[in-house]
Amino acid sequence: MRAYDIIRKKRAGSALSGEELSFLVTGFSEGRIPDYQVSAFLMAVFFRGMTEEETFGLTDAMLGSGAVLDLSDIPGPKIDKHSTGGVGDKVTLVLAPLLASAGIVVPMIAGRALAHTGGTLDKLEAIPGFRTSLSVQEFKENLRRVGVSIMGQTEEVAPVDRKLYALRDVTATVDSIPLIASSIMSKKLAEGIDGLVLDVKCGSGAFMKTPEEARTLADTMVKIGNARGVKTVAVITDMDQPLGATIGNSLEIRESISALHGEWARDLREVTLTLGAWMLHIGKNRGGTPDEETIERSRRELGELLASGAAFRKFVAMVDAQQGDSGVVLRPDLIRQAGKARKVVADREGYILRIDAEKIGIASMLLGAGRETMADPVDRSAGIILAKKVGDHCGRGEQVAELHYNREDGAVEAGELFLSALEIEPRRSEPKSVILEVVR
Ligand code: URA
Repeated sequence: MRAYDIIRKKRAGSALSGEELSFLVTGFSEGRIPDYQVSAFLMAVFFRGMTEEETFGLTDAMLGSGAVLDLSDIPGPKIDKHSTGGVGDKVTLVLAPLLASAGIVVPMIAGRALAHTGGTLDKLEAIPGFRTSLSVQEFKENLRRVGVSIMGQTEEVAPVDRKLYALRDVTATVDSIPLIASSIMSKKLAEGIDGLVLDVKCGSGAFMKTPEEARTLADTMVKIGNARGVKTVAVITDMDQPLGATIGNSLEIRESISALHGEWARDLREVTLTLGAWMLHIGKNRGGTPDEETIERSRRELGELLASGAAFRKFVAMVDAQQGDSGVVLRPDLIRQAGKARKVVADREGYILRIDAEKIGIASMLLGAGRETMADPVDRSAGIILAKKVGDHCGRGEQVAELHYNREDGAVEAGELFLSALEIEPRRSEPKSVILEVVR
């Protein structure tokens, strides 16, 4: 078998066999097939797509590049949630301890900020001392003791994904449905979980810009998960405006702590409780297709755990277990803030129709909150506080956001970009629901 022939076959639009995909992925993983051939393969996939069978084959080949974690000695249902990446998406920070407080074991392997999207690891590291590089043994110990642990990707879990992702990132081949589906599902299947709830983001701030693309990605991942014995459900959620009220690591930690105390933006609450209700449904083995009443009951159950303080206590326990300073969780005003702040004011009057999440993500990156390449440092205190959401009225000259930053160079451009992200209309239109669809 030769990499050249595999590339040529894919370039011609033919379907590759499992053996061919495994040859390519293993050869790349072991350094026998060079970056330039894999880059050509990725571009061929980008243009030609993959059949469902090929996507399964690619996922299996990537999964096979590492080991599957064995969590069988940890009692309780192991259920994870994964988001395809968005702007202001701090759902994990609230959801993971919330579900752990409901008796679900939540083993999460999370990622870092890239381009306009944020990353859970960067957010957690805004808590002084918080360790995201754990050994598998530490991860398992935390799961056993606390019921939740969040760490970065390890060498054990689908290691070839990291190499492939880095290549996709510089060859403009990230936003391909089979490549995204196999990247996400190879890592999730390697976690040794029983169930998975996927948050497939759809809109300007997401990889999937249209509901059709989001549905295809959701459907592909749900099929892969269920076929490999992991009960998988996908919820398609709106990413046409940033989620919640803040973008940026420290700011999002503060917003998450407020949410755990029951003070949160409506869209953040809606997404968190909907994903959480599905995690509970799968974790508690409630089976079948739940009706609205069943999902509503799960949401109420989660609401009670928030109101009683159990979810917040679980968050504190998780921070303690990962050597974070839980003092700042108890006193969020102690979390480091940026040295400078600048108001952004509306240049016209009207109702906010849209806040382009991709532009807002790039604006926050210009302030230092994100990274263009994996090697870039992140300023954890930088970010944006939204003063308005879609559907709100704003007057000319009224504040729509506050930019937080330490370095001056990107601030003016970030402010201009923020304003260009706003669509303001004279008449109000009803904001759409943040939950677009559930794919089972
Ligand atoms: N998240 C991943 O883990 N992989 C992708 O390809 C895209 C988003």
